[in-house]
Amino acid sequence: MNKEKSAIVYYSWTGNTKIVAEVFSDLLDIPIDPIIEKKIRVSGNIPLAALSAMLGLRSTIEPLMIDLNAVTNLFVAGQVWAGHSTPAINSFIHRTDFSGKKVWLIITGADENRPEKVIQKLKSKIINKGGEVVGIYTLKTRALIGNKDIVTHEEVREPIKDWLEQSNLL
Ligand SMILES: Cc1cc2nc3c(=O)[nH]c(=O)nc-3n(C[C@H](O)[C@H](O)[C@H](O)COP(=O)(O)O)c2cc1C
Repeated sequence: MNKEKSAIVYYSWTGNTKIVAEVFSDLLDIPIDPIIEKKIRVSGNIPLAALSAMLGLRSTIEPLMIDLNAVTNLFVAGQVWAGHSTPAINSFIHRTDFSGKKVWLIITGADENRPEKVIQKLKSKIINKGGEVVGIYTLKTRALIGNKDIVTHEEVREPIKDWLEQSNLL
């Protein structure tokens, strides 16, 4: 994989996906860029977040720092809310031209089961926008309702490294 033409973008509200994206960026030695919502999402407003995801809404997001035109290997990291993709990720996918890009999807979620529905929906949206989805990585995080038990860099490093090796990315 050409590192010069690779990058990872992520959205994270409660911190898990940020950690996961940071580990990918570190292991692959590629730039990382957060997808940031223009309107600050009030911490703890779970019902609103869940509802906005269920309705398939798109939030307004800030422009990225990196130039995606120069990126052909793109890692996109997001999460599951109420069985759906999140408004910031919906928005990012909506506004991005994936033509000529290989895309790896990284999805975090607290559920035991792999979020197949979210994966398939995001995958088809990316394919419809010209991208080629070449890999999916999912990570089970811990339920955050009522606590702040986010994953640590240390605990996710080995599983991610294993997956990257199996995917011939390391
Ligand atoms: C509003 C809300 C709804 C959620 N719904 C689900 C869900 O339906 N399925 C699931 O597996 N995890 C669900 N989760 C857990 C998150 O997907 C998980 O904590 C994820 O790692 C959060 O990413 P972040 O910390 O980067 O924001 C939900 C979390 C929130 C805040």
